[in-house]
Amino acid sequence: MCGIIGYVGDRPCRDILFRGLRKLEYRGYDSAGISVIDDGRFSLLHSVGNLDNLEAILDQLGGDGTMGIAHTRWATHGRPSTENAHPHTDCSGRFAIVLNGIVENYLSLRAELQEEGHTFTSETDAEVVAHLIERAYQGSLQKAVVEAYRLMEGHFTFCAIAVDEPDTIVGIRKETPLVVGVSEGENFLASAIPAFLAETRSVIFPDDGDVVVVRRDGVFIADLDGNPVERPVEGVDWDDEAAEKAGYETFMLKEIHEQPTALADTLTERIGPDGSVALEGLGLDAETIEGLGRIVIVACGTSYHAGLIGKHALERWARLPVEVEVASEFRYRDPVIGPDCLCIAISQSGETADTLAAMRLARQAGARVLAVSNIVGSQATREADGVLFTRAGLEIGVAATKTFISQVLAMLLLGLYLGEKRGHLSRDQVRTYTQELRRVPAMLSDYLEDGAADRVEEVACRYSSASYFMCLGRNIGLPVALEGALKLKEISYVPTEAYAAGEMKHGPIALLEEGSPVLVVATDSRVYDKLISNVQEVRARGARVIAIASEGNESLAEMADEIIYVPRSDEMFAPLFAIVPLQLFAYHVARCRGEKVDQPRNLAKTVTVE
Ligand code: AGP
Repeated sequence: MCGIIGYVGDRPCRDILFRGLRKLEYRGYDSAGISVIDDGRFSLLHSVGNLDNLEAILDQLGGDGTMGIAHTRWATHGRPSTENAHPHTDCSGRFAIVLNGIVENYLSLRAELQEEGHTFTSETDAEVVAHLIERAYQGSLQKAVVEAYRLMEGHFTFCAIAVDEPDTIVGIRKETPLVVGVSEGENFLASAIPAFLAETRSVIFPDDGDVVVVRRDGVFIADLDGNPVERPVEGVDWDDEAAEKAGYETFMLKEIHEQPTALADTLTERIGPDGSVALEGLGLDAETIEGLGRIVIVACGTSYHAGLIGKHALERWARLPVEVEVASEFRYRDPVIGPDCLCIAISQSGETADTLAAMRLARQAGARVLAVSNIVGSQATREADGVLFTRAGLEIGVAATKTFISQVLAMLLLGLYLGEKRGHLSRDQVRTYTQELRRVPAMLSDYLEDGAADRVEEVACRYSSASYFMCLGRNIGLPVALEGALKLKEISYVPTEAYAAGEMKHGPIALLEEGSPVLVVATDSRVYDKLISNVQEVRARGARVIAIASEGNESLAEMADEIIYVPRSDEMFAPLFAIVPLQLFAYHVARCRGEKVDQPRNLAKTVTVE
């Protein structure tokens, strides 16, 4: 939520900052702004709407300043407007700040500051920070930032600059991301690595409460009392190309097509020559695995759906009871957790506020915590006892695709791993599964190259004017239906509901009428026959069945109005294939309706607010 970038160096930075914002646009896009220190004073620019509007007026900002901060906003407090766009300044115009997150006690701080004579120009919570710094400043921006930070409640990251210190940006974080890009003679602060990836791959990941002082000639980190803190500089191997569309019309389409690679990378070195699953860094020794009594998976959105698939794998293979919980609900319950519980927090970003809170709650209650994440250095990975990384690479599209498929694969691998370690699967059984898993990336790649996408596009465009979709699935196909429905909601805005197919007759079937499109995940499975009865129930109401089926299933072709085949696989691996046409279906429905799929309304890629 919200993207921040700051630069200090020798180069004119207006365009560097703007390019950084472009890379962060997925985090929010309702307004944007840049502030550069030029000739001893701030040069400021704000615009409403996406970054094209800022770009159109960018020339109004002096092009010579070599230090500045910029922001792209996802509104929380105050509607999208130029007044509410960041950077915000204080009354004297000597300080500017950009903030990501929420200052929960901003109303009382604002009232206090107003009483002291400060004048506010926006409705945001963030503006208090500029005034707090103004009040505290006595010649040291670092100290003023600390004073402001100590008074603020909530979860946020902010960066501040002062006209009197034209060589310094100070950044600080509390439970939301902040990364430092380190380079020769210039340095960066940002809320995510892509912002400066084209300039440097050397990164520092500060902790909460680290006061990060970034200057042209170096980065100094201190604790709140001013004592120096050492944080390592780490190299990231992401390719800046990954942050480009590489010929695709959108990031989402590119990322859908990158799924075979994401699977192959997530599998790399995780299947041993003997066919066993090798997972390092889980933080689970043999004794702990043996002593596990149950598993609780906490996650949000798409990651929650990956968790539901993980439940099937863990229950079937590791024979452990598994609950999958929406993190925002779990965190406010009083769950019964004990030391025999493993909490698995799934979060591609590793920064989702609700998921972080849920994993902390589980931990306090005595559970071990395993994070499944795509981002090295993210908060979830730092707080967990162990980490299972997905290796989907950078995902820019707000609608998760390749991170989902990688999470599903990670959960399948974990299921096989724990299954063998707990003695419920023999090595031969595991080998049979892993032999098939090894083939999945190539099978998916062939599938996408063989024109599957065109077939889905053709079907999707035929149904793109529908006013409602229903998605059905059973067993491991149900989370796939749920995820397909989420994709449709997120990017096409067509009301879509997903149900367990067997549950439909208990109510939702009343929604069906002549011609209603119903997407059915009907790949081969142990419940296939049961699902077919549900398909008949749909047909009997005159609704139109769009079936996702295993290649070669001709009998279903006769029953369905549309059939989209996916490669045949073991039923446990079917989600890795079945989700792809659903992603493409949602994508093409959205495109046919003229929607901007990479920037769906009201959404942001990383949800760092609760
Ligand atoms: C997926 O398309 C979403 N935009 C969203 O549901 C996402 O999966 C959710 O916010 C969780 O994010 P995380 O995996 O980064 O925790």
